[in-house]
Amino acid sequence: MAQLPEGMKITWLGHASVLFETSGGKRILVDPWTTSNPSCPEEQQDVGRLDAILVTHGHGDHSQDCVQVAKSAGNPPVLAIVEVATWLESQGVENAVGFNKGGTYEVEGVVKAHMTDAKHSSSLPDGSYGGEATGFVLEFPDGFRVYHAGDTSVFGDMALIGKLLKPDVAMLPIGDHYTMGPASAAEAVRLLGVKTVIPIHFGTFPPLIGRPDQLRKEASDVDGLEVIELKPGETLG
Ligand code: NI
Ligand code: MN
Repeated sequence: MAQLPEGMKITWLGHASVLFETSGGKRILVDPWTTSNPSCPEEQQDVGRLDAILVTHGHGDHSQDCVQVAKSAGNPPVLAIVEVATWLESQGVENAVGFNKGGTYEVEGVVKAHMTDAKHSSSLPDGSYGGEATGFVLEFPDGFRVYHAGDTSVFGDMALIGKLLKPDVAMLPIGDHYTMGPASAAEAVRLLGVKTVIPIHFGTFPPLIGRPDQLRKEASDVDGLEVIELKPGETLG
């Protein structure tokens, strides 16, 4: 598999919530859904100090714990599309950073966050307009790149994400119902050209029926593909 850089860790907290730790001790959380996430192990719901938080879109299963998580994490920058960032600010997030698709925001010495497209809807928990759904390619200081697709169907421009941003690892939703399922995720793997995939956004609720084994089967034509199945709370690296 794509070796994680020495000392780097990726922890899946269940659903789309993922904690990244760099070899230099920096901590980045994508989609802060922890205390109200039924998949997140209780002892991991308090993620502690963070250097950045990224939010892919406004839906509650990605954003609704953000205000509280940002406060307890020491008010790090919270990166999101402008509409979501503005809303989070109105809810009490102190250090919201709004940008948009195609843009890159650098959290100094921690990560470059490239905001990508995603095909999905986006509204905030109170019904406010959330702009559009997004994904992120995170570029770590040693050059290692991880694509967190957010919630999305498969789309042809994933080929552009592969070409321009060259992710080493893709974290793809496979649960079906609210996002793509395993067959579409297999096509996403082909479009992206990645060889290492960590499935997310499955198993949290009964309708999210897609499973990593099904992705393995659907993508069995992809040479050298590794589908890494983590349990909620499990750490890679
Ligand atoms: Ni969603
Ligand atoms: Mn979702």
